Amino acid sequence: MRITVVTLFPEMFASVLDASVLGKARQAGLVTVDFVSPRDFATDKHRSVDDTPYGGGPGMVMKCEQMMAALESVVADEGAKPHRVLLSPVGKSLTQARVRELAELAHLVLVCGRYEGIDQRVIDLGIDESLSIGDYVLTGGELGAMVMIDAIARYLPGVLGHSESAEDESFSDGLLEYPQYTRPAVFRGLEVPEVLFSGHHARIQEWRKQRSVERTAEHRPDLIAAQVEILAELASRTYVVLAHHPVLDRNGKTVTTSVTNFDIHDIARSCATYALAGYFPISPIALQREKIARIIEIWRKEIRQAGADARGRALAGIEVMSSVEDAIEQVRARHGQPPWVVATSAQPATPDKLVDFAILRAERVAAKDRPLILILGTGWGLGPSVISLADQMLAPLRGPGNFNHLSVRSAAAAMLDRLFGIPLASPPL
Ligand SMILES: C[S@@+](CC[C@H](N)C(=O)[O-])C[C@H]1O[C@@H](n2cnc3c(N)ncnc32)[C@H](O)[C@@H]1O
Repeated sequence: MRITVVTLFPEMFASVLDASVLGKARQAGLVTVDFVSPRDFATDKHRSVDDTPYGGGPGMVMKCEQMMAALESVVADEGAKPHRVLLSPVGKSLTQARVRELAELAHLVLVCGRYEGIDQRVIDLGIDESLSIGDYVLTGGELGAMVMIDAIARYLPGVLGHSESAEDESFSDGLLEYPQYTRPAVFRGLEVPEVLFSGHHARIQEWRKQRSVERTAEHRPDLIAAQVEILAELASRTYVVLAHHPVLDRNGKTVTTSVTNFDIHDIARSCATYALAGYFPISPIALQREKIARIIEIWRKEIRQAGADARGRALAGIEVMSSVEDAIEQVRARHGQPPWVVATSAQPATPDKLVDFAILRAERVAAKDRPLILILGTGWGLGPSVISLADQMLAPLRGPGNFNHLSVRSAAAAMLDRLFGIPLASPPL
């Protein structure tokens, strides 16, 4: 692979490119790095490459003519159209996935800005892609270019000794890497985990996968959101409970509300969409439970007549129960361990119990096998006896305005999407 760096400071690169893995890769001809300086295209006596910004403001901007001339001076190898990347805090974040793709290119041009950046017209005319190495500002693109060269070179065939080592690392499967150990077996009282001595390949793999998930959940909960299989596993042990009792009325008194037709139907469909294990509407009143059963039957009939079998399947996930305690007991019996119970509210909870969506998802993913119950309230919200049963309270859903009155079925859908929704870029199941 060939990498051309457009920079005012080529001398910054020597120690990084000469040492260790990169040095050997260059010696072996696996990667070549050459430099072009916009300064070489300056025509005035000060060899200037920058000027003050139009519209005023601090600092200087890299001028069009010299930067463009530098870019256009890069002579492409035959048949290899160079891909021109600008290092910029305004670019998309560099990811391991993008690094792997860029490593497939024959010729990459890395353009390093300085001062306040470069004239936008150079970017419009001469840059294919802008990439940032993180949400902070450096004085120039050179360190970013070195980061990219290092990360890309590791994917070039023959650069790393062991052919798998670039694949079995943090980010390669969307998770952070498991902890690593080497001799001695005990260091200052800390022992290497037993399983690593077992010689049992499958058990070691399983241990490593679980530690990877735990670490990712702890340090980078955002990465878990893109892990379809992990989300599906958590969803398969998650239940929604809809409480009609004990809930509050407008005066803060504990009451029992009556069942709403669409709460049964719509929440069942949301639970099915996010692949949850079950949906338990709760009422202590026998007539209300019968009403739920009748609602389900009416919907079933209507759905059958409409030939919408898939929608009918959503209703099969409903189990009507008499109390929140019964639902908790049912889940405990089914999974052989007590569920983690999370109550929901439109009002902020006491800080010690409050949990945000990404953190809840990450923590529950890491709590392998333990089932999860999300309790939603009707009326003016869950009564204090349910709140005291809960291990945590989910952060209230909020929009930018101050209207705070979602219907419980809309809140359920929004919450499930925040916990189990798959980002656009994720692969299909
Ligand atoms: C001082 S910075 C310019 C910052 C610019 N005024 C802004 O606020 O976005 C100068 C140059 O450093 C490089 N640079 C700074 N931070 C970077 C980052 N996080 N990732 C990649 N390049 C960066 C870019 O090449 C940039 O043109």
